[in-house]
Amino acid sequence: MRHHKKPIDSTPSKLLTQFAKEIVTESSGPIVDVGSGYGRNAIYLASFGAKVLCIDNNIEALNFIKNTNIDLYRAKNGVNNIETIELDLIIEKWPFKAESLGAIISVHFLPEKLLDYFIRSLKKGGYLFIETIGGQGGNYLQLPPKGFIINKISDLFEIKYFKERKVGPIQSEVASVKLFAKKNKSLYQ
Ligand SMILES: C[S@@+](CC[C@H](N)C(=O)[O-])C[C@H]1O[C@@H](n2cnc3c(N)ncnc32)[C@H](O)[C@@H]1O
Repeated sequence: MRHHKKPIDSTPSKLLTQFAKEIVTESSGPIVDVGSGYGRNAIYLASFGAKVLCIDNNIEALNFIKNTNIDLYRAKNGVNNIETIELDLIIEKWPFKAESLGAIISVHFLPEKLLDYFIRSLKKGGYLFIETIGGQGGNYLQLPPKGFIINKISDLFEIKYFKERKVGPIQSEVASVKLFAKKNKSLYQ
């Protein structure tokens, strides 16, 4: 039997397209796409001239970004706007210092332990964009408890968009989340 590989989806998150301009023009500092996959969201942001760093543990996906889409994200001056780092974000050390990043994009990849690192690593004025996986099938087993994300960030962030949907079986307390927020307080003030 022949197996056909699923085509690579290059359509960016619809919600991200609403906020991309703000992220690109207002953030000061690196934009990091965490669990970037084949770069559909990073490439969209980079198409506005932003520099984006893609992190993933899938080298094939990162090579795709580097090799296949090169024309899409080359700035006019020929500088490559996307960098990639192969890293296992669950096993390996989180690579960013406190208050060093301009934006973090986390779409369909959000191990719970990363949320604390996101909060810490964003500069004051930095943006957090999160879209968890949906609740289809057994997905709910990987989703955070309802309220978990918003409760963690609400002290330091201005919430610009938030949608939470309880998913899974009736007794489950987990939810899928879409969130866009701006860090408006530093950890150190
Ligand atoms: C569902 S895909 C989402 C990709 C991309 N964010 C998007 O929206 O198209 C999840 C991505 O997370 C990556 N990933 C899974 N586990 C990882 C880990 N431990 N460290 C880094 N990346 C990981 C996968 O390789 C995959 O590219």
